[in-house]
Amino acid sequence: MSDTNLSVLLVGGTGSIGRHVARRALAAGHRVRVLTRRPDSAPAGTDAVGGDLTDPGTLNAAVDGIDAVIFTHGAPFASTSVHDVDYGGVRNILEAVGDREVRIVLMTAIGVTNRAGGYHDWKRRSERLVRASGHASTIVRPGWFDMNEDDQHSLHFLQGDRRWAGSPADGVIARSQIADVLVAALTSDAAAGKTCELVAEHGPAQQDLDPMFDALEADGPLDPPQDTANMPLADEPAEVRADLERAGAQ
Ligand SMILES: NC(=O)c1ccc[n+]([C@@H]2O[C@H](COP(=O)([O-])OP(=O)(O)OC[C@H]3O[C@@H](n4cnc5c(N)ncnc54)[C@H](OP(=O)(O)O)[C@@H]3O)[C@@H](O)[C@H]2O)c1
Repeated sequence: MSDTNLSVLLVGGTGSIGRHVARRALAAGHRVRVLTRRPDSAPAGTDAVGGDLTDPGTLNAAVDGIDAVIFTHGAPFASTSVHDVDYGGVRNILEAVGDREVRIVLMTAIGVTNRAGGYHDWKRRSERLVRASGHASTIVRPGWFDMNEDDQHSLHFLQGDRRWAGSPADGVIARSQIADVLVAALTSDAAAGKTCELVAEHGPAQQDLDPMFDALEADGPLDPPQDTANMPLADEPAEVRADLERAGAQ
């Protein structure tokens, strides 16, 4: 476990997941800065900084002096802003960070490699940007929020993203459990360079997540090795290939 009390930029900190992450990160002793278009809505105990992910000129104050970024932001499901917010937001923050080394934890979604409907493609491309950036990163793809049964406390990390039903049959996870994993990843050396799906199963909660992070296969330069290879780089939009090159893709 690397240390300790970090200065964390939380992107999406006013959202339904981000609020749990803010509480959990503060309880772990981190300083939390929330990037938001609505500074009055930032969770108690955090520092709000005004900014819009789609407007790069508003992001410099947010990244000043940070050690880490946790991304839990998102446009409404299937909205046309997914390109600008889910993908463009990650690109714009990475560009604002520049050459400084920061720890990155990105939340996307289970089923992100299912290309049907194109709903998830921009989230998956944001994952690729993070991996290509070379920052120590952990990417967590949670199942369906807060649909757990009473005794589903046990966390399970999966790889390969093979659950594509597009319904809670893919797996469920409590918002508070997602926050526990995102904040644990922040200071876990074992979690760096790893991607997993996250679901809850029947059973007691684990106390230490490091053995679970340790058991995960490490990411390749763009994708986790077990993912379905259904997004060839050569077929990607020119904009995406240019962003990847700028981010540092080999
Ligand atoms: N529902 C599920 O079961 C499920 C499962 C897996 C993954 N997910 C994904 O989880 C993501 C987050 O979920 P959530 O419930 O926490 O979302 P949410 O409550 O709608 O919050 C969205 C967050 O994104 C921020 N945001 C959006 N556009 C922004 C912009 N232009 N500039 C700055 N911040 C912006 C908002 O900040 P401000 O409004 O304060 O600016 C807010 O903090 C979604 O993208 C969803 O696809 C959902």
